[in-house]
Amino acid sequence: MSDTPTVIPRSPAPDDTLAFLKNGYLYGTRRFRKLGSDAFEARLAGMRATVMHGREAASVFYEGDRFSRERAMPSSVQHLLQDEGSVQTLEGPPHRHRKSMFMRMLDDASVARLIAAFEREWTRVRAEHAGHEVPLYDLGNLVLTRAALSWAGIPADRVDDRDLAGRLAAMVDRASSIGPVNWVARVRRRGAEEWAAELVADVRAARVQADPDSAIRTIADGSDDHGAPLPEEVAAVEVLNLLRPIVAVSRYLVFTVHAMHTHPQWHAKVERDADAATRVANEVRRFYPFFPVISGTVQRPFDWRGRDFEPGDRVILDLYATNHDERIWEEPGRFLPERFEGWDGDPNTLVPQGGGDAATGHRCPGEAATIALTARFAQLAATRPFSVPDQDLRISLRHIPALPMDRLRVQMRD
Ligand code: HEM
Repeated sequence: MSDTPTVIPRSPAPDDTLAFLKNGYLYGTRRFRKLGSDAFEARLAGMRATVMHGREAASVFYEGDRFSRERAMPSSVQHLLQDEGSVQTLEGPPHRHRKSMFMRMLDDASVARLIAAFEREWTRVRAEHAGHEVPLYDLGNLVLTRAALSWAGIPADRVDDRDLAGRLAAMVDRASSIGPVNWVARVRRRGAEEWAAELVADVRAARVQADPDSAIRTIADGSDDHGAPLPEEVAAVEVLNLLRPIVAVSRYLVFTVHAMHTHPQWHAKVERDADAATRVANEVRRFYPFFPVISGTVQRPFDWRGRDFEPGDRVILDLYATNHDERIWEEPGRFLPERFEGWDGDPNTLVPQGGGDAATGHRCPGEAATIALTARFAQLAATRPFSVPDQDLRISLRHIPALPMDRLRVQMRD
């Protein structure tokens, strides 16, 4: 693959929508390879876009305030994952201000409290399911929902945790679906938004007592960059923006067990060594598929690869292809956590949660929480609290978002 073509080639097909649906996570990788370029032009979902990948592409995409997320996602995806007025839809000073609220809620001390809540809930659920076979994905959704609620300071009597776990998981599971499946998930999302709005109203009116350090208090007291309180519906959207992705970490719990089951030598390494567990968590995030791409709309003109990018142009950064780019990663198709020993931490190479700087750009503010939850779970799993019965462990890269065929069933030990 050439690094610096002078012209960005065009995809051979007049419209790539079907190719994307057919190839899933591998759509970009296959095109980059075929065209011998790290970027190409294509028509996707009726719109022209430049699809790019790699370290340089990620730094162009994430650094220098060149892009907004306006029209970045098809509306069916947007309505499940984000919504009007959420942090991801903001730019400039309003974005930085709102983002700082997320960074505060997810700082080191707060992540440590989340891990403690997660361990408590995991221990409880493990005892409840002793001797039974359960899909780890569904169990993870429930454990993480309960942990997120207690960490965020949301009283247990304010919510049906199983129902909320289902609603939050469906927002991610159904994001790439279209038609009725997506509409049903959108209706379920509405229900969750109404619940969150009522909760915010009750915290504001002191009908619910929330700890001053809690996330729910922080959002309820949140203001915009001019000091005006966040409208109730915007605060509600941000409550979901905090709870939904914590529950989404369940996919990484599944992938961690998948990885350790297929590479059993990691059990012993991880059990007592927190650094080894962190390396496993990072390799899980690099190796396994989650968000395939992220798209943005040019807001500030720039030149790249001999092309003028003008305001309004659409660019798609291929996260999966960057995480598997052989210019960055040796043997990218192998699961090798040891590659993170002495890793330089370049912000634009390991990009499952975006690139650049989280405080100033759109990079995910929940990355430290995700790594900590995944690494801690790798250690809990290393003590083999369950076995993995025979099942179909294949993961189709055509299905977005991906999961093992049987949602990874585990047999809990007595
Ligand atoms: C399951 C693991 C996770 C993955 C794969 C993930 C992935 C991502 C990605 C790809 C973005 C988009 C970056 C962009 O627009 O360029 C993002 C943004 C975001 N994530 Fe995560 N995330 C995860 C976990 C979390 C957690 C645990 C939280 C919070 C508790 C969180 C909160 C957010 C928020 C609020 C944004 C919007 C940031 C902004 O626009 O400035 N995520 N995430």
